[in-house]
Amino acid sequence: MAQIPAPRTSGRYAVALVCLGNICRSPMADVVLSARVEEAGLADRVSIASSGTGDWHVGQPMDRRAAATLTAAGYDASRHRAQQYAPTWRDEFDLVLAMDGQNLVDIGGADDRVRLFRDFDPREPGGEVPDPYYGGDAGFEEVLTMVERTAATIVAQLGLELE
Ligand code: 4NP
Repeated sequence: MAQIPAPRTSGRYAVALVCLGNICRSPMADVVLSARVEEAGLADRVSIASSGTGDWHVGQPMDRRAAATLTAAGYDASRHRAQQYAPTWRDEFDLVLAMDGQNLVDIGGADDRVRLFRDFDPREPGGEVPDPYYGGDAGFEEVLTMVERTAATIVAQLGLELE
């Protein structure tokens, strides 16, 4: 299992989640990870942001199917507004997690702090979060399942790193 890197600073541990459009996968991961961080009592120690490598949806709320999937599972999907990834994020965040291999290539490739989100998937580490945008509702359910179990691992590691 991958290990999260040590914090850069004594401030909040900053996690970035990156996909293509910032309306489906990384916003879902952002909402779920934020909820888990809150439940773990780490909300004042961790900050979470998400972005897309593309600019098509900047300023828009989440895809309505992504939001409906989250809402049905008890999360608040209402606050998201899409933003575009900027190269400075690599230097500003403690950990940058790309949803798929193309996203990882588009932000300059992996290093100690830049990896695939599913490197932390306890069931099938190292895979991609498949893009659900052009598919049906089942794709969004699949994303939520992957994101929930992977977020649990990340938060468990954050708890140990920040204790
Ligand atoms: P996301 O999904 O990267 O998970 O937010 C997509 C959203 C929009 C587009 C592609 C993927 N698009 O081409 O507009």
